[in-house]
Amino acid sequence: MTAVGQSVARKEGLGKATGEAKYADDLTFPGTLHGRTIRSTVAHARITGVRLDFDPAGFTVVDHRDIPGSNHIALIEHDQPCLAAGEVRHVAEPILLLAHEDREALRGATVHVDYEPLPVVTDPEASPTTFKEILIEKGSLDKGFAKAEVLVEGTYRTGSQEHVYLEPNGVIAVPEAGGIALYGSLQCPFYVLKALKPVLGAAVANVRVVQTETGGGFGGKEEYPSVIAAHACLLALKSGRPVKIVYDREEDMWATTKRHPCVVRHRTGLTRDGRLVAMDVDVVMDGGAYCTLSPVVLSRGVIHAAGPYRCANTRIRGRATMTHTPPNGAFRGFGAPQTQFAMEVHMDRVAERLGVDPVKLRLKNALKPGDTTATGQKLGDDTSAVAVLRAAVKKSGYNRKRVSLKGTGAGIGLALFYHGSGFTGSGEVMLASTVALETTATGARILVANTEIGQGTRTMLAQIVADALGVPYEQVEVAQPDTSKVPDSGPTVASRTCMVVGGLLEKCAIAMRARLGGMSPSAWHANRGPLRLEQRYEAAATRQWDDATYRGDAYATFAWGCDVAEVSVDPVTYAARVVKFTAVQEFGRPIHPAMARGQIEGGSAQGIGWALMEHVVLKDGAMHNAQLTNYIIPTTLDTPPMDVIMLENPFGGGPFGAKGLGELPIDGPAPAIVNAIRHAGLDVRSIPALPEVLHASPPLDPPPPARAG
Ligand code: MOS
Repeated sequence: MTAVGQSVARKEGLGKATGEAKYADDLTFPGTLHGRTIRSTVAHARITGVRLDFDPAGFTVVDHRDIPGSNHIALIEHDQPCLAAGEVRHVAEPILLLAHEDREALRGATVHVDYEPLPVVTDPEASPTTFKEILIEKGSLDKGFAKAEVLVEGTYRTGSQEHVYLEPNGVIAVPEAGGIALYGSLQCPFYVLKALKPVLGAAVANVRVVQTETGGGFGGKEEYPSVIAAHACLLALKSGRPVKIVYDREEDMWATTKRHPCVVRHRTGLTRDGRLVAMDVDVVMDGGAYCTLSPVVLSRGVIHAAGPYRCANTRIRGRATMTHTPPNGAFRGFGAPQTQFAMEVHMDRVAERLGVDPVKLRLKNALKPGDTTATGQKLGDDTSAVAVLRAAVKKSGYNRKRVSLKGTGAGIGLALFYHGSGFTGSGEVMLASTVALETTATGARILVANTEIGQGTRTMLAQIVADALGVPYEQVEVAQPDTSKVPDSGPTVASRTCMVVGGLLEKCAIAMRARLGGMSPSAWHANRGPLRLEQRYEAAATRQWDDATYRGDAYATFAWGCDVAEVSVDPVTYAARVVKFTAVQEFGRPIHPAMARGQIEGGSAQGIGWALMEHVVLKDGAMHNAQLTNYIIPTTLDTPPMDVIMLENPFGGGPFGAKGLGELPIDGPAPAIVNAIRHAGLDVRSIPALPEVLHASPPLDPPPPARAG
């Protein structure tokens, strides 16, 4: 064992550090045109006229009538047009595309659109249109509430969030012999391919999608790249030239997906000694104008909504509804941060009502091996809720500070959480991912569609293959994802890349090692010619899931976390500040400890931003603060010292014991912080917990010491 468990040099590290790495905007092709999108300025309207207010010579102009195939972006539903045809449902909806070789000329072109306004829905709870409804039922709610001696209710709200990947969305569509190649900054090359085919139709025989170096995704490049890719291809098709579209920050923030805002209502019954006997949870997510991925975001949200707790009688109802804002979409955590925020803030309120310590309440109810979740999934030995909770309490000095900080204007709070690894339910079976491994003159090459987006895919997969194949890490290379060359190993989402794709590669490497019979891959390659092996996902016979009833094994396994936040509240400005943060997380086993720590630190910082400062201001259905001067994310100075503890509990179903890690770290910070604010004396139930929210929050007993204003 030489590579796994070591913080080896990142595969793409040198290229990024030296500037060698080529991002979408670095690529040049002869004769490239620049593309621009003309977008709706109103939230809901009929388009009654479109007029070009410029001389069209030298321009390529595309509208919905130029689409050779079908005018929709393929995802779960086919409701989202590629280009508006007669009606717009949100501000920033694409209507017309322009291309020109000169960026200035392109920027100077003005297009006039006439609208006939239609009614606008902004409240997701009052929306008449529902994209998806889900019901999870376990035991009997009536019987549970009949046993309850204490009832606690509450409503919790979470706001939207912008991904703020360093590199905005960008693609280049290049006509080539027999078809078109799309290069771009994206998470899921085969999703883009699947979306391009219906739009381009039979007119384009060969379409391939190539992922370029990608400066961050966080879910924001899961579905949106299909839209910008389709636009660039349409312009390339009409002009016969390569077309590059790269959004600037403002367009990226104004037009692309965000985290789903969410409202969660809890009604909880307990025995007087603090045992959960009935949980009734209602979840509403704001899907925005088109369905996109809302059904699956809702799914992950509701499955995690009861938190990592045991309760025999549970009902979770969820719906994702339509409003006239840009569609909300995938964002790290995929609905689970929203519902677990509600659960964990609610748990501290329950503890308060019962007059028990929040840690004791959680210890009493935390899931243990052999317990079942809300969907009836029986948990295995890698269930670490109690272990992460105990470690976090100890490491942070929670019990001591709970006493010493009381009444000082500062507070300490914690959150216990979990996150399913890989696709939900039978998702992985339906994906049927395939990976490949081939010999090269110098070692072996990994062929997968999974993308390096800064999180370490290439490095981590190469570590797994190196050890399973028995070759040095340096001899394993990773092919650039190009859908004409790599098998479809599924999307780079859902905390699946390490556990699922890494697991397939481990099997593939073991098979190759057996075939090589003691010979090194390079020696085999030189003496016997190239060897290429594939490995396809096989359903685990023991895993059961019923999509109709939402019963069964929702995930292959779960990763576990407990975060502790120490927060000070400024008595004059009411600004809350995290002064110390402890994150204890169990995700099987870290393949690359330094990068795993980076995931936890980064996810925690992103969670701190979501909790305290990131505020998407919507005005008339549009993001009103689409710039980084007033959409505030945490800087180094806002990021507290972090204690990261990675507990190991190897999972037999993952490569070298690993589970998924990418999303877990963003589930805990917001509720830990709001619970710390509660300990400091303010009853906050929604985020972002901006100073004005704190100022308007009812004081608890005892109140914070200096309550100004
Ligand atoms: Mo994701 S939020 O599963 O890219």
